[in-house]
Amino acid sequence: MRIEKGQVAVVTGGASGIGYGLAEELAARGVRLVIADIREDGLAAACEALRAAGAEVTAVVTDVSDAAAVGRLADRSMTAYGRVDLVCNNAGVVCPGAPMWQQDDHTWQRLIGVKLLGVVHGVRAFAPLLIEQGSGHFLNTASAGGLSPLPGRTPYAGTMHAVVGLTETLDVELKQVAPTLGATVVCPGLVDTPLGQNSAALGAIQLPTGSPSMRDLAPDGILSPREVAAAALLAVEADRVHTAPGTGVAARARTRVDALLADIEAEEKGRGPGPEAHGSHAAGGGRLR
Ligand SMILES: NC(=O)c1ccc[n+]([C@@H]2O[C@H](COP(=O)([O-])OP(=O)(O)OC[C@H]3O[C@@H](n4cnc5c(N)ncnc54)[C@H](O)[C@@H]3O)[C@@H](O)[C@H]2O)c1
Repeated sequence: MRIEKGQVAVVTGGASGIGYGLAEELAARGVRLVIADIREDGLAAACEALRAAGAEVTAVVTDVSDAAAVGRLADRSMTAYGRVDLVCNNAGVVCPGAPMWQQDDHTWQRLIGVKLLGVVHGVRAFAPLLIEQGSGHFLNTASAGGLSPLPGRTPYAGTMHAVVGLTETLDVELKQVAPTLGATVVCPGLVDTPLGQNSAALGAIQLPTGSPSMRDLAPDGILSPREVAAAALLAVEADRVHTAPGTGVAARARTRVDALLADIEAEEKGRGPGPEAHGSHAAGGGRLR
């Protein structure tokens, strides 16, 4: 999808970090904005700053884990502008660091609610509008942790792998409706945002004083939210399904895919030639591209 002046974009988690970077980058291209966030104060401050820079912005306090609230966000967007071209399902929190067997139910429910169902709610609320219009694109924020293992953060990694997988399938489903529809997933490495502080403010983690910042965790350099936004919008314009900005992200993804293929090939060799070894799952109609 080409991004053009006068279009309308909805950005969840738009009060801070990557969402705010997307809003800035879109506003710089003359795109009108609907910014949604659960933190009312942060949302008001972000909108004020965007307006001061000349952007046309509508703010909607929204908890993306609440399907009805995301439905109201879609209604408000249509009332404000009468159309939506780009939906950025970006809101998120991080989970506490611990091995999988120590992550509690509450953490799993929260991460699934915000980081997975938040995206699902966005797609269910907005896809009918984009389909009716005949054009539009979803930009879902996942993470490098959705492309490779992330020890100590299984609720985060699990939901981010899910967002990568559902975006791949969503893109196929949208293209079956019309080639002018599509979906992209952005999987950044470490980005210089207050994700830890905001997650602590929302009760998702505890952040003892003196905890390292994102910058401290990335001795090899860190991406700015604007850099991630620019890479993501480039991928949207190129109609690419994946974008993975950040040092080392592509290498880690390659290692995972190579390991996956090596396991499958070893299994196929062990089974010997036969229908199973020649892609029999195609009979079920579920081939990945
Ligand atoms: N910062 C990184 O290193 C990094 C790397 C890869 C992926 N991500 C992902 O990028 C996304 C944005 O994170 P960020 O780093 O910009 O952090 P951030 O804290 O700066 O921004 C996230 C925003 O989402 C909002 N939010 C949280 N829960 C919400 C809810 N239930 N409903 C609506 N809004 C909610 C927060 O209030 C915040 O403004 C997240 O999904 C995060 O997991 C971050």
